[in-house]
Amino acid sequence: MKILVIGTGAREHAIVRALAHDTDPHELHAAPGNPGIGELATLHPVDPLDGDAVATLARELTADLVVIGPEAPLAAGVADAVRQVGIPVFGPSAAAARLEASKSFAKDVMAAAGVPTALAHVCTDDEQVRAALDAFGAPHVVKDDGLAAGKGVVVTPDREAALAHARECLAKQDGCLVVEEFLDGPEVSLFCIADGADVVPLVPAQDFKRVGDGDSGPNTGGMGAYSPLPWCPEALVEEVLERVARPTVAEMARRGTPFVGVLYVGLALTSRGVRVVEFNARFGDPETQVVLPRLLSPFGRLLHAAATGRLADLPPLRWSEDAAVTVVVASEGYPGTVRSGDEIMGIADAEAIDGVHVLHAGTAITRRPAGDDDSTVRGGRLVSAGGRVLSVVGLGPDLAAARAKAYEGVAQIELAGSHHRSDIALAACESRVSIPAG
Ligand code: AMP
Ligand code: GLY
Repeated sequence: MKILVIGTGAREHAIVRALAHDTDPHELHAAPGNPGIGELATLHPVDPLDGDAVATLARELTADLVVIGPEAPLAAGVADAVRQVGIPVFGPSAAAARLEASKSFAKDVMAAAGVPTALAHVCTDDEQVRAALDAFGAPHVVKDDGLAAGKGVVVTPDREAALAHARECLAKQDGCLVVEEFLDGPEVSLFCIADGADVVPLVPAQDFKRVGDGDSGPNTGGMGAYSPLPWCPEALVEEVLERVARPTVAEMARRGTPFVGVLYVGLALTSRGVRVVEFNARFGDPETQVVLPRLLSPFGRLLHAAATGRLADLPPLRWSEDAAVTVVVASEGYPGTVRSGDEIMGIADAEAIDGVHVLHAGTAITRRPAGDDDSTVRGGRLVSAGGRVLSVVGLGPDLAAARAKAYEGVAQIELAGSHHRSDIALAACESRVSIPAG
């Protein structure tokens, strides 16, 4: 198949890499992509938020499938634009992507579909916020209603900090926020592939959202992930399918906005049972980096079947028993103001280690000055160009082995000022993750 992937992150690099490893041959294109993706696919300098431009490119390429990675193009209606020119697209319409783009919309759908989630109050002024904070008590959970790249949520024992975040959300245009009850228990991400009617789950993963070891510091887009989850009940996937994914996909179809793409179900396994923390309308980053290398079935066929309403025709997915761990290498300052333009070294050394590969996110290639031919990447220098710079992935027969590989890989990377968490998958390896007793 001729496949065009939209996006620039390590998630999209993981998607392109999985397609490149398919047993089916593909011609791969990406827009705009990144230098790592450029080693596997032809890059096109098209604005991923411009639906007409993406649709035109897809038509020019005579693409068989367009895969949209990030949330912003989905919310901007890029999937609608591509569908309109008659090309199959993996990714929901703008209307269906509201499951991610609006927390209050997601809560409404969950209520209609009977999906277990945190109790919540939608607030549009300070007085409502105070009442909701008092009703639930501490720890407080305050969420911006709109898209905020994983940074719109504050969980804090401090009422003043909760109020301060609420004021920031309310100050935005159409300011609206959600105050929720606090959910205890470990989190799980489960990707559910949907074709508008049928749903096929992938394997669970866990990500690490806080910037620092021991879940300290502010939330980020995600600092690392692992799969499988040795502590997770086997019955979880079936339960989430029955109680969450299928009812949600059915409710979206009932509303006339069928969901096609990946419904990312973020769960907390609480003392009172499974609760949905959030929905996303796309693959998670960095969870994708550990889920896809474990998939043995052809990924392209799965995405195409979802895009064309034919998931029911697929045989059951097959999975490797191997474990995968990814560690994100971030720029100095991330998740705040980041420093960019520093040279990245050591990727080839990391990839020389058996079981290690490196996915690009915020990287760019700059030209070397004339006469300097000490070039490493296609005649230029590879430099940092964003918050999350690389996702180093380690694979192994069990979690401890995969974890060791990932950190062996990270140790090869040189990037001035960069930081990473040193405890990704550690608690799971030490059997320290458990579901609180009810
Ligand atoms: P969200 O953007 O809704 O995924 O929230 C980001 C992160 O905040 C989640 O992954 C959780 O770690 C945390 N969080 C969100 N909602 C809650 C909640 N109700 N109780 C506890 N933690 C939460
Ligand atoms: N890993 C969290 C997210 O993709 O939103």
